[in-house]
Amino acid sequence: MSDYAKGLEGVIANESALSKVEGLEGKLSYLGYDINDLVEHCSFEEVTYLLHNGKLPNKEELAGLESSLRNNRELPQEVVDFLKSMPKNAVPMDVLRTAVSMLGIFDERATVGEPDVAVNHEVALSLVAKTPVIVAYYHRARQGLELPPVRTDLSEAAHFLYLITGEEPCKAAVKTLDVAYIIHADHGMNASTFSARVTTGTLSDLYSAMTSAIGTLKGPLHGGANEGVIKMLKKIGSEDKVDAFVEDCLVNKKKIMGIGHRVYKVLDPRAPHLQKMAIKLTEELGDPKWIKMSERIATIMRERKGLNANVDFYSATVYYSLNIPTDLFTPIFAIARMSGWTAQVLEQLTDNRLYRPLTKYTGPATTSPVPPIAER
Ligand code: COA
Repeated sequence: MSDYAKGLEGVIANESALSKVEGLEGKLSYLGYDINDLVEHCSFEEVTYLLHNGKLPNKEELAGLESSLRNNRELPQEVVDFLKSMPKNAVPMDVLRTAVSMLGIFDERATVGEPDVAVNHEVALSLVAKTPVIVAYYHRARQGLELPPVRTDLSEAAHFLYLITGEEPCKAAVKTLDVAYIIHADHGMNASTFSARVTTGTLSDLYSAMTSAIGTLKGPLHGGANEGVIKMLKKIGSEDKVDAFVEDCLVNKKKIMGIGHRVYKVLDPRAPHLQKMAIKLTEELGDPKWIKMSERIATIMRERKGLNANVDFYSATVYYSLNIPTDLFTPIFAIARMSGWTAQVLEQLTDNRLYRPLTKYTGPATTSPVPPIAER
């Protein structure tokens, strides 16, 4: 029997060249490029090309990828009808999960069996292109708004902001969302990526793998934490109540959303980017209350538990300041991560082996005869 590692902590499940997560140093890089450098010099589209193709694109390659994404935005009418038919109070992550699954039904390339690399690359880009449209269309449909046709003249970040607001987004908002997309694009063997790779490991199709990933990201211990942060800040209400709230959580062993990480034992390298953007945005809005409360929580948790803020902690304030509704925070994470999830399953397919770990059995040591139902 192999050693048992609860939650698979410390277990290496596969090989990947995509993202390097250095937990003790607090570093993250994609294919050998530090995220700090990528955020400075690249767009989300360039990073998607990097993850899907293993190299940064030149001008022509980037233009090709942008054109593929922009021309793949249109959803099948059946999926549009489905989005319009959903209850107004549905959870957007549930709608996204179901719509992505539904996309597979209307794509005959979504085959099971021995995969065709070129076809899988096309499907991967189509998923990256359609995911934000699904999220934005459902958001409009639930408010009773019409669904504007998709456009081909906007970047991924700009197009999403345009769809949810119906207005041309300002440059600063586009840049902010683009940076958020880049730093959420991939992150080693996190829970949702693992789900996606496990599904693909059976040679199931990409839509099934992405459906698994979205369902996994939804949980509050993973991507759902960013929504939890704003709910927590609203519940606390004001800066003077932060200390008592945190104390209560620590005494009663309640988790503070956006704090702690399985791999990072120092500050999550994605957090400072979001922190900087959160400070700038809240200053511009003239409402620094949320960031001040966040900073106080982060300080107490660092001092008392040695735990740091993670990617979700400040992304919540960033999205909130961009006027994005709280229940779209995790779907935005999914939009960005679709780029990494699809890259990870394409990589899985290049050297596939079925995932099939063991369980440490804790049931009865011996078998007993089944008693008749009347005697149980
Ligand atoms: N708030 C309060 N205490 C926390 C905490 C948090 N957010 N995260 C970890 N801890 C504490 C645990 O209570 C535990 O303390 P103990 O040893 O005194 O009992 C210790 O730190 C280890 O926590 P554990 O839950 O076993 O770590 P993990 O590696 O399984 O969990 C997370 C990692 C991310 C799931 C966890 O930190 C968490 O739940 N964070 C909040 C949710 C979140 O922000 N998720 C997004 C991650 S990017």
